[in-house]
Amino acid sequence: MATSPENEALQLLRSFLDALPDPALVVDRSRHLTALNRAAEEILSGPAALNRDLALSIRHPEVLGAVSSVLAGGPPQALTASFPLPVQREFEVHAASLPGGEITALLTLHDISAARATDRMRTDFVANVSHELRSPLSALLGFIETLQGAAADDVEARKKFLLTMEGEAKRMARLIDDLLSLSKVEAEEHVRPGGELELDKLLESVVSTLRPRGDEAGLRIELKVGDGNFTVKGDRDELEEVFHNLVDNGIKYGRGGEAVIVDLSHVDRIPDVGTPGIRASVRDHGEGIGSDHLPRLTERFYRIDKGRSRDLGGTGLGLAIVKHIVNRHRGRLVIESRAGEGSTFHVYLPQIPD
Ligand SMILES: Nc1ncnc2c1ncn2[C@@H]1O[C@H](COP(=O)(O)OP(=O)(O)OP(=O)(O)O)[C@@H](O)[C@H]1O
Ligand SMILES: [Mg+2]
Repeated sequence: MATSPENEALQLLRSFLDALPDPALVVDRSRHLTALNRAAEEILSGPAALNRDLALSIRHPEVLGAVSSVLAGGPPQALTASFPLPVQREFEVHAASLPGGEITALLTLHDISAARATDRMRTDFVANVSHELRSPLSALLGFIETLQGAAADDVEARKKFLLTMEGEAKRMARLIDDLLSLSKVEAEEHVRPGGELELDKLLESVVSTLRPRGDEAGLRIELKVGDGNFTVKGDRDELEEVFHNLVDNGIKYGRGGEAVIVDLSHVDRIPDVGTPGIRASVRDHGEGIGSDHLPRLTERFYRIDKGRSRDLGGTGLGLAIVKHIVNRHRGRLVIESRAGEGSTFHVYLPQIPD
């Protein structure tokens, strides 16, 4: 069958649209859908109704209104609209007229969900920081007031209150230290650390520092080091912070009488990366983490049980810091856990080639 020049033009237009990364659709002057690319097909709620009114493919009154306005000779239109498929996404939508021929309007969509999510994260972060700082501060102000008034001459009460105040002030200081740590690693994330260190030695030091804390909680901390060389490229202080937090979490959220096991070995493939590496895993036998919490665990201030973490002196920033440091080292953090059975935090780091 011979193809008409019109069909050829349409084919050309479709392949042109397919080469665009963003969803794009063209309509004729009666708003019938003439062509669309694959990216556009993905966001429609059903199959594209070609040569039918655009309203059958896109059920979004404002977007349809913008297209109609352009077709009626109006200026180019821009608006934001959210589309529910395959997951809720927000788009910046542009409608513009095309001069001549049957194809008379072009609709392009640009996904702005990631930028919006970043904006939301930023505002949430400020709100969270303010809230986290405000609670110890309110407690401190309350105690100061009591010490100035009712408890001014009560020696015993003063001693007790000062101790609590010290705890609250230390919590604020810890929060500020963690925030500074987080912003430092975030700022340096794109620069790979230059130093070299022996990970087995570093883990030995972290484990011996935390052993007394384990003893207090009735937990053994075991370090198992496999064969071979565990030299990695890395920043000593940062990696120390990673394993300090993971073992500390193991002690805090592990189960008394059981062990927290730190395991160091070589792997042939780092998940997602595919190259050989070193894996340091921290395993506990605590309550574990439900699958609904797992994906959010490394978010700043995300805590499964806020009250419990706070009572244990936590800020909820530990794992966020861990994640950024591991990223900076071009490594991977993989969390495996099942509620009731304990958790394992695997840190994969690239191996220095022989
Ligand atoms: N090994 C674990 N087992 C069970 N839950 C855990 C474990 N490690 C972390 N979590 C959960 O993840 C949350 C976040 O951990 P993260 O280390 O970021 O904060 P934190 O330990 O509460 O405070 P911080 O580390 O800042 O002192 C914890 O509050 C806890 O709910
Ligand atoms: Mg922690």
